[in-house]
Amino acid sequence: MNPALLLYCRPGFEADCQQEFAARHPLDGRWQTGVGYVLFEADDSYELAQLHQSLDVTQLIFTRQVLLTLAKVELGERDRLTPITDALDALDARYAAPWQAVWLEHPDSDAGKPLSGFCKRFGAIVEAALQKRKALDARRGRYRLHLFFTSMSEAWIAFAKPALASPWPLGIARVRMPTGAPSRSTLKLAEALMMLVPEVEKKMKPGMVGVDLGAAPGGWTFQLVSHGLKVFAIDNGPMKGDMAIHPHVKHLRQDGFKFRPPNPVDWLVCDMVEQPARIAQLIADWFTRGHVRHAVFNLKLPMKKRWAEIERCFDLIDNALYSAGIDYELTAKQLYHDREEITCYLTRTKVR
Ligand SMILES: C[S@@+](CC[C@H](N)C(=O)[O-])C[C@H]1O[C@@H](n2cnc3c(N)ncnc32)[C@H](O)[C@@H]1O
Repeated sequence: MNPALLLYCRPGFEADCQQEFAARHPLDGRWQTGVGYVLFEADDSYELAQLHQSLDVTQLIFTRQVLLTLAKVELGERDRLTPITDALDALDARYAAPWQAVWLEHPDSDAGKPLSGFCKRFGAIVEAALQKRKALDARRGRYRLHLFFTSMSEAWIAFAKPALASPWPLGIARVRMPTGAPSRSTLKLAEALMMLVPEVEKKMKPGMVGVDLGAAPGGWTFQLVSHGLKVFAIDNGPMKGDMAIHPHVKHLRQDGFKFRPPNPVDWLVCDMVEQPARIAQLIADWFTRGHVRHAVFNLKLPMKKRWAEIERCFDLIDNALYSAGIDYELTAKQLYHDREEITCYLTRTKVR
């Protein structure tokens, strides 16, 4: 079997995942689509294996996890372990044990979710078997082994390069609902900060100032305040709970497209439901006018041609910032808490 790239994504977004990957890495080959994942087998499997060595999941928007498959195994009802250990024994020497760890996973789909309990129980058995064979070594292992179950009787044996792959099972960061938050959308910003902002504690610090456009009822403001920021919360709607009375929150009933801060601020967050290009234009404007250093914003995507819309918005930001002599980094992800949208992080690196 030739190795294939196995990409996890949100169910229903397989075509977007595929389209984005093909746009960024135009290789000839064949796609196979499941629910919540896609597989890509390139004509040149050496080239694909090379690409996997440098493929960074943080640089892909619709992909939650990046793996390279090594084998597909059919599993009996009585003994599921032997076909797996046999397949591992038969692997090319390049992929010989020890593995850094072993994760058992399934698609994040209606068909896949019921496999979660089985993966936990069987995971303990697989791990014990690999320990016995001295095939697991957290320090010396180069790759992480993934067993991806599409059903109880079929699994892909695949691996991840831990430095470039998602550090979360299923590629989904687990975020707990904080007590006192006024809305569940607080989870979205919490997840965005975990997924998109490296070393967030260094970049978002007490005493900094933030602006939240489209802030009500206050879930995102809650996150900023939790990091010690003073926040201008812009929304015609009401803030709720603590966010309505917090001494570090200044609620202004203004239009988020017109508001500009009296002095430059450290953070801008924006969760207004609007045309994506209009949001991209607004964010670009804040950066080119020097109002802000970091921004997290949502782009609500159309039903069709989502990738084309993302490219249009990113081009718009690139043109504006490039013309203004601003160097920047822009990363984006369709988060677990995002539905028909993606979340972006834009940061100014320097002004030329
Ligand atoms: C999805 S909700 C924001 C939820 C918020 N992030 C939270 O965590 O609680 C979108 C908000 O944007 C506000 N909004 C939409 N257009 C706006 C505009 N032009 N100016 C200010 N607020 C706007 C709406 O009133 C609504 O409260």
